Amino acid sequence: MAKNKLARFAAVKSFDNFFEPSLQEEFALKGKWRSDYFKNDHPIVLELGCGKGEYTVGLAKHYKDKNFIGVDIKGSRMFVGADEARREGIENAAFLRTKIDFIDKYFDKEEVDEIWLTFSDPQPKKPRKRLTSPLFIERYRKILKPGGVVNIKTDSDLLFEFTEEEIERNNYECLELTWDLYGSIPESIDPTIREILHIRTHYENLFTAKGAQIKYAKFRIN
Ligand SMILES: C[S@@+](CC[C@H](N)C(=O)[O-])C[C@H]1O[C@@H](n2cnc3c(N)ncnc32)[C@H](O)[C@@H]1O
Repeated sequence: MAKNKLARFAAVKSFDNFFEPSLQEEFALKGKWRSDYFKNDHPIVLELGCGKGEYTVGLAKHYKDKNFIGVDIKGSRMFVGADEARREGIENAAFLRTKIDFIDKYFDKEEVDEIWLTFSDPQPKKPRKRLTSPLFIERYRKILKPGGVVNIKTDSDLLFEFTEEEIERNNYECLELTWDLYGSIPESIDPTIREILHIRTHYENLFTAKGAQIKYAKFRIN
């Protein structure tokens, strides 16, 4: 790891809003994120593969009555969001360093209200590893409330086409779906999506600079 990354990784470990649980031990906040960490009974929203956590922090600023947790395996990236939340006193945002593969070790049944997948790796050669594959959706099902939703925002045609097919094949309830979020926002789109269009992630900015169209879908898996 480069020196700067190492320094960020070392620093983030000392933040109160950053958790790096051991896989071997029971995680004390499982089932208790609301009561023992956020100290409220607000809904919990996860950003999976959060990178620098632009959605976690941006949504937390916008929706004070919800709790947001960014999840990623790269602590040095999460430093950016965790540090911003800490410096700005944003108390409804936290970060969890783990592989998403083990997400149900850290959240209890029905503890989560909503999931965001932001510019997830399209995994061209490994469909099982795509974050909207049946393998991952089953993991989300274990922690999502009945009626809980999954949002996906991506530049990738491959990942979006795959997700669209999964929605159809599995009869998930599709709430929104657009192949060109910024180019042709449907009149009928949920107004809350318009409210948060200003939140752009690091990878989103890189991809849009290259002319990529941003796709967005929102669906219910149960
Ligand atoms: C392309 S980046 C997008 C980051 C951020 N959401 C953005 O839009 O800028 C994908 C992120 O997902 C994380 N990631 C991919 N697979 C993961 C997994 N199985 N568990 C945890 N993190 C994962 C990577 O570490 C990386 O930070």
